[in-house]
Amino acid sequence: MTQTVFVLNGPNLNLLGTREPEIYGSDTLADIEAALTEQAKALGLAIDFRQTNHEGVLVDWLHEARAAGAKAVLLNAAAYTHTSVALLDAIKAIELPVIEVHLSDPLTREEFRHISYVGMAAVDEVKGLGARSYAVALDKAAAL
Ligand code: DQA
Repeated sequence: MTQTVFVLNGPNLNLLGTREPEIYGSDTLADIEAALTEQAKALGLAIDFRQTNHEGVLVDWLHEARAAGAKAVLLNAAAYTHTSVALLDAIKAIELPVIEVHLSDPLTREEFRHISYVGMAAVDEVKGLGARSYAVALDKAAAL
């Protein structure tokens, strides 16, 4: 049976392509989803790719990933990365490998981005590679 990797995206990532392209690049989220879908096929995996602007929806989707028996989760929680104890608790609760993903490298940016609640529970992270961060993270998930 084909294993599924959930790819969960948080607030404002629906605006990729036009949102601060000097930081996040010019790929849209649809571009990233299309490339990742092809990559997943080549790896013998499926992806379930989603975006929401709402913190609690991300929590619900993490729970759903476990209920669905997902192989792993790639999580770009965007700004909630730096604020959300609820996401930290959810990642701990679901006992699935979660890989933290960022297009930019938050550690080279404002100090408020240096804390990562997601990173306190994630098994790995990929950041600073633009859209390629997702591709590298999917390769890592495939190797788990
Ligand atoms: C981001 C980095 C976060 O600090 C920021 O709030 C985002 C995007 C990234 O992918 O580089 O919205 O997660």
